[in-house]
Amino acid sequence: KPTILRTVAELRREIAAFRRSRPPEAASVGFVPTMGYLHEGHASLLRRSARENGLTVLSIFVNPIQFGPNEDLDKYPRDEERDVALAASCGVDLVFAPTVREMYPQRRVTTVTVSEVTEGLCGASRPGHFDGVATVVAKLLNIVQPDRAYFGLKDAQQAAIVARMAQDLNMPTEIVPCPTVREPDGLALSSRNVYLSAEEREQALSLSRSLAQVPAWIAEGVSASELSERLRREIGRSPLAQIEYAEALTYPDLLPPDGGAPLRGVEGQLLVALAVRFGSTRLIDNRLLNPK
Ligand code: PAJ
Repeated sequence: KPTILRTVAELRREIAAFRRSRPPEAASVGFVPTMGYLHEGHASLLRRSARENGLTVLSIFVNPIQFGPNEDLDKYPRDEERDVALAASCGVDLVFAPTVREMYPQRRVTTVTVSEVTEGLCGASRPGHFDGVATVVAKLLNIVQPDRAYFGLKDAQQAAIVARMAQDLNMPTEIVPCPTVREPDGLALSSRNVYLSAEEREQALSLSRSLAQVPAWIAEGVSASELSERLRREIGRSPLAQIEYAEALTYPDLLPPDGGAPLRGVEGQLLVALAVRFGSTRLIDNRLLNPK
């Protein structure tokens, strides 16, 4: 069973004790930051960390500074007891579950801002969101000082931002991107899926279904703008879907490819990303093409 730590000092003591107890080559620390309400997507990151490291640390912290004023901070789903049980079954050693006061004990005058890669996609529709993410991830990486930290490609822009921040700030942690885990019918797992009504849940399949057609469309020779149109048309067949964006960008730089040229000529990786609202529930999904 994992040990639950509520303070930075306690967590640091536990990690230091682990590092002292092992020869350096067996003392690697893996870290999986989350906001809790864990599902199989989180579990896949935790199992991988447990496989690749001597110690696995999970953090559960609903980070207030990454939520906008009209977002779901107060109703974000929480169930720590269930999370700890799932963590135990994934081989987690330490669960760091701090209070907001512990993470933000004084007025915060320092913010980590990553530019450029934060500007498109979710960065455009959620102003300030990625400042909140980069700042809390930088704090957590400084607290845990892991050898490896695991991030899901479900949030591909977040993974790109964190990897870039770690490079730019010479953080010694290896940022490990991990594949998106889906329901058998294709819906990407998300803590927010619990908000969907039965009808919305059915229509939410339009995200993964439209993304599944992308490789064939690209083979046909569509451009970035034609691809966006086709995605919008396909998702638009679901009457409850309100599309926020449907875009193709280079990955991990997140730059627009030449709008008129066929995407099949793009070298390197391509991210095709969607954000779609069903009522007040905002879902994202993506596909990464030409993975290296
Ligand atoms: P959260 O949404 O709880 O996600 C925690 C980690 O799980 C992220 O790296 C996310 O990409 C990954 N994840 C979520 N759904 C997944 C799925 N279906 N398949 C694979 N991985 C999945 O992302 C956050 O929390 C926060 O922004 C955080 C990084 C913790 C900073 O507060």
